[in-house]
Amino acid sequence: MKFNIQHQDTQCKARNGLLKTDHGEIETPIFMPVGTAGSVKAVHQRELTYDIRAQIILGNTYHLYLRPGLEILEKAGGLHKFNGWTGPILTDSGGYQVFSLAENRKITEEGVVFKSHIDGSRHHFTPEGVMDIQRVIGADIVMAFDECTPYPCEWSYAKESLELTHRWLKRCIQQFDSTESRYGYNQTLFPIVQGSTYRDLRRISAEFVAEQGREGNAIGGLSVGEPAEMMYEITDHVTDILPVDKPRYLMGVGTPANVLEGIALGIDMFDCVMPTRNARNGMLFTSEGIINIRNEKWKDDFSPVDAGFHSHVSNFYSKAYLRHLTISKEILAAQIASIHNLSFYLWLVGQAREKIRSGGFLEWKNQMVETVSRRL
Ligand code: GUN
Repeated sequence: MKFNIQHQDTQCKARNGLLKTDHGEIETPIFMPVGTAGSVKAVHQRELTYDIRAQIILGNTYHLYLRPGLEILEKAGGLHKFNGWTGPILTDSGGYQVFSLAENRKITEEGVVFKSHIDGSRHHFTPEGVMDIQRVIGADIVMAFDECTPYPCEWSYAKESLELTHRWLKRCIQQFDSTESRYGYNQTLFPIVQGSTYRDLRRISAEFVAEQGREGNAIGGLSVGEPAEMMYEITDHVTDILPVDKPRYLMGVGTPANVLEGIALGIDMFDCVMPTRNARNGMLFTSEGIINIRNEKWKDDFSPVDAGFHSHVSNFYSKAYLRHLTISKEILAAQIASIHNLSFYLWLVGQAREKIRSGGFLEWKNQMVETVSRRL
């Protein structure tokens, strides 16, 4: 994998770069649609490529390991062959999902024992095992196995958790570096900075992660319920420590405004279920603000879902029609809303890249944060 920064903003930490993987190039900053179980919900590959213009998608180790399972994935020749997405893929390690299983999991030095949310069966994830699973899935970028601390979290718990995550990181690196890609292309491992909302712990973690010298680094444990200002403060602190010349990935973030603020703080990669999950509940992110399409006020509004940018579905369907589909629980509502929201996120980061290149990013960002946060 190669990463080149092509433009550095002069007023803030925003940058525009190019990340090269064996499955194609990614322009940064980028938003990565979430395809937890190997599919971006309600969206097929042609739409991802031609309407949404996704450049990289996410998969999840926990879900793919449970279903369809490693035997099928290996037989298919990896996730790219299985789901037909030919561009880059990143897989999350399952750290986050396993920890959200609450009483259905137990953490030890060795790893985590958990019960499947599907059938209650018992499983054991270790850092080594999670690296092996991600070799079988075959994502271009694989994530270290970490513990994502909840918010709020006591300093002493956050410190212990951080130390465990660091010991696990060493084991992940050892395992990853002593195994090979199964399918003939390169994979790379990103470590994850933790440390909850504590600046001292975040510094320790960011320095530890930076010292590992991997090709990219991630920031986890944010957007877990803390105030947005706290998330920005910690992100700012961590991006001051992580190497400038490597891509930085802010995990699980966020709203359009969070993404724009993250870009200004020097983040290059984002992912979040929000555009797809909220789409299925009728929440639309548009270039004018946020819409709840179920609201009665849209019932006879025949203007396009979002005339502000050029995604096919956003201009083709009216708000009134999408409201009707949503209220009637038509499957098409989820498709249109998901394609629209993802197109919007990809358009937004595309605009950000252009503003970084041409100058004036910061001013545009401040104005845009206000616009996209408005409730219409
Ligand atoms: N997704 C969102 N936050 C996190 C995190 O802290 N760790 C992992 N592995 N995934 C995440």
